[in-house]
Amino acid sequence: MLREIREQPQVAARLLTEGRGEVAALARVLRRRQPPFVVFAARGSSDNAAVYGKYLVETLLGVPAALAAPSTVTLYRRSLRLRGALVVGLSQSGASPDVVEFVAAARRAGALAVAVTNRPRSPLADAAAHVLWLRAGAERSVAATKTFLAQLLVLAMLVGAWGRVGTLRRGLARVPGAVEEALALDAPVTALARRWRDATGCLVTGRGYGYPVALETALKLKEACYLMAEALSGADLLHGPIALAAPGVPVLLVALRGPSLAAQRAVTRRLAARGAEVALVTDARRAGPPAATVLPLPQDLPEPLAAIPAAVPAQLLAWHLAVQRGIDPDRPRGLRKVTRTR
Ligand code: F6R
Repeated sequence: MLREIREQPQVAARLLTEGRGEVAALARVLRRRQPPFVVFAARGSSDNAAVYGKYLVETLLGVPAALAAPSTVTLYRRSLRLRGALVVGLSQSGASPDVVEFVAAARRAGALAVAVTNRPRSPLADAAAHVLWLRAGAERSVAATKTFLAQLLVLAMLVGAWGRVGTLRRGLARVPGAVEEALALDAPVTALARRWRDATGCLVTGRGYGYPVALETALKLKEACYLMAEALSGADLLHGPIALAAPGVPVLLVALRGPSLAAQRAVTRRLAARGAEVALVTDARRAGPPAATVLPLPQDLPEPLAAIPAAVPAQLLAWHLAVQRGIDPDRPRGLRKVTRTR
């Protein structure tokens, strides 16, 4: 897991160079067809990448995007009116059966079916009309890290090319360097893991582009550290679960510069007032009360791209915290690399 976390600058650089042609070809198709809406189908970390995709498609293109409930097709046997839609199945293995089935059904229903996968020869790739290959190299760790980051990046590449989004396209070349800089947070993350070692539960929160990072952080903390980690958008946190915030309940808060920052600052203040120990993952200079631990991110990326290096300290925290708790993060109990759900 740690080796794969550390490989990520190279993974990002390779995808930017070698994946560009595939992305450009699909973007041309999308500009021609102009799908009225997008549906993402995925599980686990790939599903968290899909949430990121939803923010990209909606905030940068104004196209509505939703996450599929694969059981609509697999268990309830219902076909959906998806003619003309873009349906994106994300699966690093390309082998999650319900994702494959959803994408195949969508294609039969007339959707433009796209596979985002690390395995260009896989059931998901076969089911789709277009494949975006992540080129991350084999991922051996059960906990997905580099394929998650590559999924975020390829979605940003696609939306940048599809909508000719200048800020996104100009920032992409900076991503590998920013991921490298985020890896340098290893020492403060190790110190944070020591403080969190005996926690029995934690909250993780983000807003906007920080929300999928929060979701993925909580997933990593659950599967690698066996820590009850609840991920919530900052808004949903204020709607009730903030009652959980108290001394002894650590909180990881993702605050990215952009339209969501002021709201996350307010959440930080509310959490601090309740005595919660808040650690901030942020690219803002002043994002919270002085007592909070700050894991600073590079400050030169637009908000959608800043979410990509923001995933790195969370991955490092999961690894270090697992080790602190005497768990081998490469052997999470009861998990396999491919989970066969229907
Ligand atoms: C999390 C993890 C799993 C997978 C999920 C989907 O670290 O590894 O939650 O993300 O099983 O797997 P793929 O992407 O292969 O469909």
